[in-house]
Amino acid sequence: MNLSSHLEHPVFKAVAGAAAEMGVSAYIIGGYVRDIFLKRASKDIDFVTVGDGIALAGKVAHAFRGHHPVSVFRNFGTAMFHLDEMQLEFVGARRESYHPDSRKPDVLPGTLEDDQRRRDFTINALAISLNPENYGELIDPFNGVADLEAGIIRTPLGPGITFSDDPLRMMRAIRFAAQLKFTIHPETFKAISENRERISIISGERISEELNKIIMTAKPSEGFRLLDESGLLTLIFPQFVALKGAETVDGKGHKDNFYHTLEVLDRIAPNTDNLWLRWAALLHDIGKPPTRRFVPEFGWTFHGHDARGARMVPQIFRQLRLPLNEKMKYVQKLVALHLRPIGLTEEEVTDSAVRRLLFEAGDDIDDLMTLCEADITSKNREKVQRYLRNFSIVREKLREIEEKDRLRNWQPPVSGEMIMKAFNLSPGKEVGLIKNAIREAILDGALENDHEKAYAFMLEEGKRLGLFPAKDNA
Ligand code: CTP
Repeated sequence: MNLSSHLEHPVFKAVAGAAAEMGVSAYIIGGYVRDIFLKRASKDIDFVTVGDGIALAGKVAHAFRGHHPVSVFRNFGTAMFHLDEMQLEFVGARRESYHPDSRKPDVLPGTLEDDQRRRDFTINALAISLNPENYGELIDPFNGVADLEAGIIRTPLGPGITFSDDPLRMMRAIRFAAQLKFTIHPETFKAISENRERISIISGERISEELNKIIMTAKPSEGFRLLDESGLLTLIFPQFVALKGAETVDGKGHKDNFYHTLEVLDRIAPNTDNLWLRWAALLHDIGKPPTRRFVPEFGWTFHGHDARGARMVPQIFRQLRLPLNEKMKYVQKLVALHLRPIGLTEEEVTDSAVRRLLFEAGDDIDDLMTLCEADITSKNREKVQRYLRNFSIVREKLREIEEKDRLRNWQPPVSGEMIMKAFNLSPGKEVGLIKNAIREAILDGALENDHEKAYAFMLEEGKRLGLFPAKDNA
């Protein structure tokens, strides 16, 4: 099969020319070739040469006008540079030779096929020749194209070898299966189960990078089911597996929160590409296992699972090496608030309850509503429709109150400095008391969110506390 028609960009001729001058062969390899068949645009191109990859990178960079600084990773024998929007990476073809007394291989120069053999999957081991005798020719010794067509993830070598070389590939197999809606070949999947403990040598950052890609797929439950079946999930994220199970006591059961959560994740996926909102969906019930109780006259309860779950978020983020910054706080907040909109669907909900939720959720109120809507997983269609209708009424109420009271990004209408100045105070307890009284009065609807009215209220409140206004303000 000749793929020259896909090689329009001048970089391919430039690599071919540089390799010919150096008297070595060169190929495009890996994800870029796979993505041609999948009709996905890709901006990362990997080149392999049966020769010195670093020298080839230098020569190609030089062939293009302008400044293209080459980053060299001598330990890995690779070099890369950016051209336009593309990231170009170069490596010399390698093979591995094992010492009988050591599991650690020596990396030696090898042929193209040696290099293809030690890649992760057959679909990622495709190469295209950039050499004069067969420019554009596909080189596919492990039947990668057949696997692409059949939708199969399979290792070129025995899977035990491929996974023990780099255990991250177990996560990658599941991620590719989830992204591409492919099936993992049974032998390859069996080897993932068998080698799962080896994931412990992989850094948390690299694991969560794959996990995030699984979360971002169109139907994330598929990837999670594979992670669960292979036994990897319990090793990387045991708190999530703890959601499993639906015990029945005295004929009273509860839903299986593991499958419920996966359904919520699938339901939120079409409505958001925000990774952190998807994480909030994944973690919204994470506080259920530690709060689960059976109350004989009532049945199962998970009282306080919202607050408990929010408290678990930092530990989970730390364990999975996710960022401990405002993204984590956002997830925490949504987990903490995920039950609140349900309370607002009751007939006699007060404006004050709506105001308080707006105040606490701030700009994240729409995301919170998206999460709550995804959280309705009843099998009863009528019930689902009823809940969704109720939530659209809640959205309407939120909109009305926000228009009136502007509480989304609430800034106190009277600041701490103003209070100190008004009563000649230094920072201290009274300032906080007055600020809180103003906020509470606004949230209760007793005071308008307006500077003048709040200032007058402040003077009254100060008097009540036995404070005297400073002369200027008396
Ligand atoms: N590769 C590998 N083992 C790994 C990582 C990568 O064999 N653990 C090889 C594969 O041949 C892969 C290529 O290196 O195609 C490039 O890897 P990378 O850029 O991480 O992935 P892509 O396959 O390009 O896919 P994606 O960009 O979706 O990660």
